[in-house]
Amino acid sequence: MSHTYLHGFTADEQRRLIAQAAYWRDTLILPGLAYKPGESLVEIGCGCGAVLGELVRAFPGLRVSGIDREERQIECARSYLATVRPGAAGADLRVGDAASLPWPDESFDHASMMWFLEHLPDPAAALREALRVLRPGGTITINETEYTTFKVWPLSEDWDHLEQAQYEHFRRHGQALIGRRLGAMLHTAGFAEVRSGPMGFHFFRGTPGQDAALRAHCEYLAEFLEPAIPEFEKMGFDRDRLSRGIGHLRRLPELPEAAITNVVYRASAKRPPLG
Ligand SMILES: C[S@@+](CC[C@H](N)C(=O)[O-])C[C@H]1O[C@@H](n2cnc3c(N)ncnc32)[C@H](O)[C@@H]1O
Repeated sequence: MSHTYLHGFTADEQRRLIAQAAYWRDTLILPGLAYKPGESLVEIGCGCGAVLGELVRAFPGLRVSGIDREERQIECARSYLATVRPGAAGADLRVGDAASLPWPDESFDHASMMWFLEHLPDPAAALREALRVLRPGGTITINETEYTTFKVWPLSEDWDHLEQAQYEHFRRHGQALIGRRLGAMLHTAGFAEVRSGPMGFHFFRGTPGQDAALRAHCEYLAEFLEPAIPEFEKMGFDRDRLSRGIGHLRRLPELPEAAITNVVYRASAKRPPLG
């Protein structure tokens, strides 16, 4: 299995990741978190620091660290976090692999992963490493989607083609179905107090506010999928149908009775206390 990252590491992709974290801040990133000033957190697979940026804004006293395999992402994270909180320029950001973290055992109070395990050939190894670097009683929070859950109304065969391409990419290059596995995998890795469940995101035509949310979600997904078309084409999917699938998504908010759904799994757990 290769390590192809669908979106590359361009400045456009880094801007997309920052906008993406802002989009999910109140629905996925922050709910249920209660980090205290002075506590430490590591984001594994932090990309250009988009999620760390939201955490630093919400929890100004949090001491943050991050790791990503790509030097370009870590360079971006350094400059982005310095704009979010000048002191965050002191964040401990490293280039490295989630399967062998460069920190000693029991280094952190909290760990975080988002849109990350879906890219890994061996997600269990990353969970074991996360457990190792957490202090006893330390928490992990994970958000991951599944690539069978992107459904639209009205139906469109072109959208189905695009959804299938997206699924096939993650099936070949990562974990298309990681969401439903998170709970059991955390348990197997040795975590305690494991919680995991699907969160449905569903948008439909209705009031002006509902229309705006539908439009925002379709636009968010189009921004995610459109740059991936060349990669999908390389796998044998049809460029014209893929482009028409994007067109359907962008037109969707204007179609009668339009709706769109997708499912994200949110999991949390603790490193068992000693004794
Ligand atoms: C979709 S990005 C998500 C970044 C961030 N969590 C966010 O939501 O903005 C996934 C990141 O995982 C990184 N990555 C993939 N495999 C990795 C590995 N084995 N170790 C560390 N980072 C890895 C990629 O370089 C990429 O930056």
